[in-house]
Amino acid sequence: MTATQSVQAVYRSDYQPPTYWIDNVELEFDLDPRETLVTARIAVRRNADQASHTLELAGQHLQLQSVSVDGTPLSANEYSISNESLTLTELPETCVIETQVLVSPVSNKTLSGLYQTSGNYCTQCEAVGFRRITYFLDRPDVMATYRVTLRADKKTCPVMLSNGNRIAQRDLGDDRHEVVWEDPFPKPSYLFALVAGNLKCHRGTFTTASGREVALEIWVEPQNIDKCEHALVSLQKSMKWDEDVFGLEYDLDIYMIVAVNDFNMGAMENKGLNVFNSKYVLALPETATDEDYMLIEAVIAHEYFHNWTGNRVTCRDWFQLTLKEGLTVFRDQQFTADQTSAAVKRIDDVSGLRAGQFVEDSGPMAHPIRPESYISMDNFYTATVYRKGAEIVRMYHTMLGPEGFRRGLDLYFQRHDNSAVTCDDFRAAMADANDMNFDRFDRWYSQAGTPELFVSEHWDADKSEFSLTLQQAYPSLSGGNPGTTHRKPVPLPVRVGLLDANSGDELNEHSRVLQLETESETFTFSGLNAKPIASVLRGFSAPVRLRMDRSDAELAFLMAHDTDALNRWDAGQTLAAKLLLQSAKDVSDGVELKLSEHFRSAFARVLQDDAVDEAFKALALTLPRESVLGQEMDVIDPDALHTAREFFRSRLGEVFYTEFMAMYHALAADGAYQNDQTSINRRRLKNVVLGYLATQHSDEVIALIRNQFERADNMTDKQAALSLLADLDTPDREQALAAFYDQYHHDPLVIDKWFAVQAGSQRADGIEQVRQLTEHQDFCMENPNRVRSLLGAFTQNQVRFHQADGAGYQLLADYVLQIEAANPQLAARLVAAFNSYRRFDASRQAIIRGELKRIADHPGLCKDVHEIVQRALSF
Ligand code: TRP
Ligand code: ZN
Repeated sequence: MTATQSVQAVYRSDYQPPTYWIDNVELEFDLDPRETLVTARIAVRRNADQASHTLELAGQHLQLQSVSVDGTPLSANEYSISNESLTLTELPETCVIETQVLVSPVSNKTLSGLYQTSGNYCTQCEAVGFRRITYFLDRPDVMATYRVTLRADKKTCPVMLSNGNRIAQRDLGDDRHEVVWEDPFPKPSYLFALVAGNLKCHRGTFTTASGREVALEIWVEPQNIDKCEHALVSLQKSMKWDEDVFGLEYDLDIYMIVAVNDFNMGAMENKGLNVFNSKYVLALPETATDEDYMLIEAVIAHEYFHNWTGNRVTCRDWFQLTLKEGLTVFRDQQFTADQTSAAVKRIDDVSGLRAGQFVEDSGPMAHPIRPESYISMDNFYTATVYRKGAEIVRMYHTMLGPEGFRRGLDLYFQRHDNSAVTCDDFRAAMADANDMNFDRFDRWYSQAGTPELFVSEHWDADKSEFSLTLQQAYPSLSGGNPGTTHRKPVPLPVRVGLLDANSGDELNEHSRVLQLETESETFTFSGLNAKPIASVLRGFSAPVRLRMDRSDAELAFLMAHDTDALNRWDAGQTLAAKLLLQSAKDVSDGVELKLSEHFRSAFARVLQDDAVDEAFKALALTLPRESVLGQEMDVIDPDALHTAREFFRSRLGEVFYTEFMAMYHALAADGAYQNDQTSINRRRLKNVVLGYLATQHSDEVIALIRNQFERADNMTDKQAALSLLADLDTPDREQALAAFYDQYHHDPLVIDKWFAVQAGSQRADGIEQVRQLTEHQDFCMENPNRVRSLLGAFTQNQVRFHQADGAGYQLLADYVLQIEAANPQLAARLVAAFNSYRRFDASRQAIIRGELKRIADHPGLCKDVHEIVQRALSF
C-alpha cells in the first residue's frame, strides 16, 4: 500500500454533516498538458448545527501554490496539508477561500479528475474525482453554484465546455482564448465537468412541453461527426418520454454530450454536459450492431433521466447511491420497454440480473443495495446497487401501480428538489403519497443476498379451492459482511395468474399480486372447476430465486400457453436447465448423452409458433448461459457444462437442420439493411438460427456463414458471422479475422469487437490466442474499452477462463498487476472475476487463491484492488 492512500473503511453510520457549507464556486483553469493552474474561490458559510470552525478540504495529487482567506494570503503555518486534505482552522462565519494548485492532466492515467483523452482535456468527478482538481468539500451533500473560466491555446483547444450556460468569451492574444460558463443550479462537485479540445458538433433542438427551445449539442472528434444522429434522436425521444410519463421537463437552455475514447464506465450525467464513452454515442449501421444501437438509446436516456433523479435531487452521501442509480435504471428500463418490446426488454434484463447480480450477491462482494461500508467507493458502482436497486424500485411500482408510483415520485420532487437526500426519504415519499406503510420494506435496503422463494400448491377438490403456499428464506453467506446475517423476511409482491389446465386459457379473474409480508403464507383461490396451472412470479415481480417443483410436462405447458411472456420464456429456460444440469452430471459419470423427446418437442413448438415476434422467439430458442447453469451446481464443473450444452446445441442443429435452413433463408431474404424494430427482431432470430446451423460444420453451412460475413451491409450480421467463424477450425476463420481487421483497423470501436470475438472463442487454444492478442500492436492497457474487450470478455468465457490448468487465472492476474497502478478502477473490475472461486473444485480454488495472494502481496497495491482481493480471500 502506498503512503498516499488510506485503506480505512468509511461507514454509513459515521455520517456527519459538514462543518461549513459552500454556496458558490468560481473556478479558473489555465489549461496545459503538464501544468494546469487551477484557481478556486469558494464562498463558505459555517453550518450552525456544528460547533467547529475548522474546515478540512479534500484534495489529492495537487501541488498547492497559494491559499488565502478573504484576500489575505496564508503562510504555511496557518494551514495544514496532507496527501488527502488541506485543513483551515479558526475560520469566520462566512468567508471566501482562494486556492491555487497545479495538476498534470497528461500524466493522469486513472481517468478520474482532469485528464487527457485523444489529445483533448476532459474530467470525470464521480464519485471522488473532484478532489484531484482542487481542494474542496468533495461530498454530494455540499451543493453550490459554479462559475467556470477556461483559458487555453486556440489551436489545440478551439472548443472549451463546462456546465450550464456560456456567458462570455474573448481572445487573450498570444493565440490563447477564454470562455466563461455559469451553471445556475446548485450541484454537488461530482457533477462538475469541463471538456476542451478539437471537437466538432452535431446539433439539434428540442422544444419542451412548456414551449422552451433547448439547444442539443453532441461533441465528437472530427472524424466521427457522421456517427451522431442516432444519439441525437435518442436524446430527443428521452426528453419527450420523461415529459409524457413523469411530467419532467429539462431545465437549462442547452444540453451537451461529449464522446471520449478513454472512459472507465458507460457515461456520466454532469449537469448540462454529459461525458460519454464513445461506445455509447457513435453509430452507423456499418460499424454498430443492433444491440449497440439499443444500448446507445438506453444510456443516453439513463444519463438524461439523471437530470431529475440524481442532479436536481441528489444523494446525501455515497451510501445512498442506489437512490439515484436504482431509480434511474428503472426509468431507463421502462423507457426502453416503451420504445421496443416490453416483454423482450424484461427478459433481457432478468437474464442479465441472474447472470451478473445473482453471482455478486452470493460471493465475497455481497452487499445491500445501500452498503454499510467501503474502502473505495468506486468499487460499489455494482450490479447490486444498479440492477437490484432497479428491481427494488420496480417493486414499489408493482405494489402501487403506475398512478400510485407517479404520486410518490411527484411528492418526492415536491419535497426534495434542489437537495441531497437518502433512500429513506424516497421510501417515505412513496408511502406518504399513497397512505401506505413501507416500514418493513426497509429490509430490502439493509440486507444482502438473493432470497429463495419456495412455492407449493394444493388442490382441494371438495371445496374447489386451489392454494399456493409461499415461503421465503435467505441462503447463508460466509465472509461476515454487513447485511449477510440475522436477516428477516422481506415484503415480496408475487404476481400470479392461473391457467385452465385443459385449454391453457387464462383465468382472468384470478390474476393478482400476492403480497408476502412474513416468512410464509398460504393464499387461496376459490370457485375453480378443476386444478389450474399456476404461473408464479410473473414479470419477475421480485428479485428472488423461485423454487417450485414442476414436472417437465407442466413446464412445457407453460412454455406453450402462459400469457406472461417472461414466465413463458422462463418455463423454457427452467426445463432446459433441468435437462442440461442432468446431462452435465452424465458427462462426469461417463453416461452417454441424449436429447430428451420432451425437450425436442417443446423446442419444435417454439420453432413453429407464428404468434410470437422474432425477438421473443430468438430468446426462447436460446439455451441458458453456462454461467447461469453453473449457479445451480454444488460445485461448478465448467467442462461438463460446456460439453452438455454444446451437445444439446449440436443435436438441435442436426434434428432441425431443414427447418433452420428454411428459416434462415426466409429471414435472410430481407434485402437492404433497415433499422425498424421488425427488421432488428428478424436479424436477431436469423443469427440465433445461424448459430444452430454452425454446429453442423458442413461445407454448406460454412459457405453460408462465410457468405453472410462477406455480403453483410451491417455490423450485426457481420459480427454474428465472425463470432461463429471464430469458434470453428477452418481456414475461413483466419481469413475472416484478417479481412475484418484490414477493413476496420482505423475504427477503435470496431477493433474492440475484433478483440472481443476472439476472447469469447471457446476453441481449445483460446487462452493462447488471448495471450498473443495482448502482444498485438492495437492492444493498449491504458484504454479501458480495449482492456475490457480482450480481458473482460475473456473472463466471461467460462469454459476457457476456468481452464483446469489455471492458465487463464494466471493471465488475468498478470494483467491486473500491470494495470492497477495506472488505473485502479479498471483493475478492480477485472480482478472481481475471481470472486466466484469458492464455487469451483478444490484444485481451481487453490490456484485462484494463489493468484489472489500474489496480487495481495504486490508492493504498493492500489486500494481499489486491495479491497476486492481482501474480501475474496476472507470469504
Ligand atoms: N453515474 C454514472 C452513471 O451511472 C456512472 C459513473 C459512476 C461513472 N462512476 C463513474 C462513470 C466513474 C465514469 C467514471 O450514469
Ligand atoms: Zn446512472
